[in-house]
Amino acid sequence: MQNWLIIGATSGIASQVIRLLAHKKKRLILSGRDMAQIEKIAKDTEIRYNTEVKTKLFNALDFDSHSDFIHEIEESFGKIYGVIWAVGVLGQQDKLENDFKAAKLDHDINYTAAMSFLGEIANYMERRKTGHIVVLGSVAGDRGKASNYIYGAAKAALNTFLQGLRQRLAPAGVKVLTVKPGPVRTRMTDGLEKLPLLANPQDVAKDIVRAIERGSEVLYTPLIWRLIMILIRHVPEKIYKKISL
Ligand SMILES: NC(=O)c1ccc[n+]([C@@H]2O[C@H](COP(=O)([O-])OP(=O)(O)OC[C@H]3O[C@@H](n4cnc5c(N)ncnc54)[C@H](OP(=O)(O)O)[C@@H]3O)[C@@H](O)[C@H]2O)c1
Repeated sequence: MQNWLIIGATSGIASQVIRLLAHKKKRLILSGRDMAQIEKIAKDTEIRYNTEVKTKLFNALDFDSHSDFIHEIEESFGKIYGVIWAVGVLGQQDKLENDFKAAKLDHDINYTAAMSFLGEIANYMERRKTGHIVVLGSVAGDRGKASNYIYGAAKAALNTFLQGLRQRLAPAGVKVLTVKPGPVRTRMTDGLEKLPLLANPQDVAKDIVRAIERGSEVLYTPLIWRLIMILIRHVPEKIYKKISL
């Protein structure tokens, strides 16, 4: 049976993916920093789906712990087959513009932590020539915009990192899926106004699990964002800088 490790298990999107994977009888290890909430999700999942769910504390910002974290999971629960990385934070652009420390923290959570952790787990998977890495990026990483370019820049770095990782791991048969959601109704978007095409986390989770099963490389979800981002990426800079996004 495959072990799937969910990092950021309290995420609105990840918690829906957890349900779908549990329904498919995957063995789950749920991780994150809010252990009370994670234990709750684990109990609920075990009862609903009659499947085994383990939990383990993980703080994305504690970079020095990433290596031991993976080692300890494999010692206690067995080899990790798949990872879903759902860690992220959406800082307020106007605050980040004026507070370098906060902007750096935003990048540490949205990019540096992923680079550290995924780089480490990739080495395990490459050695054993099997595995699946699934990462929640964002359409915001496809082109910078005034309203959230600090967050977007971290997601762009994440996207480039995953492109390279995918190419590196391909000969070993390890799959890397970059998920690029548009706006989704979760804690992250609570209270934000005027979000276009706000999607349900349930629908996004279904798309993610389908993409995992197909072995896809990049998923725009909902699919309409693939078309929207093709258009946005092709707007000439001269015009783009005059548009309010
Ligand atoms: N919602 C959207 O509109 C949207 C759109 C595009 C992309 N995304 C991406 O999708 C992913 C999931 O987002 P979501 O919408 O499900 O948001 P969410 O419900 O706010 O989840 C964010 C997750 O990140 C975790 N996290 C934040 N800082 C952490 C840290 N230092 N260590 C460990 N975990 C940490 C949170 O844990 P705690 O519970 O402990 O805070 C939570 O599990 C993110 O990468 C986000 O950027 C979301």
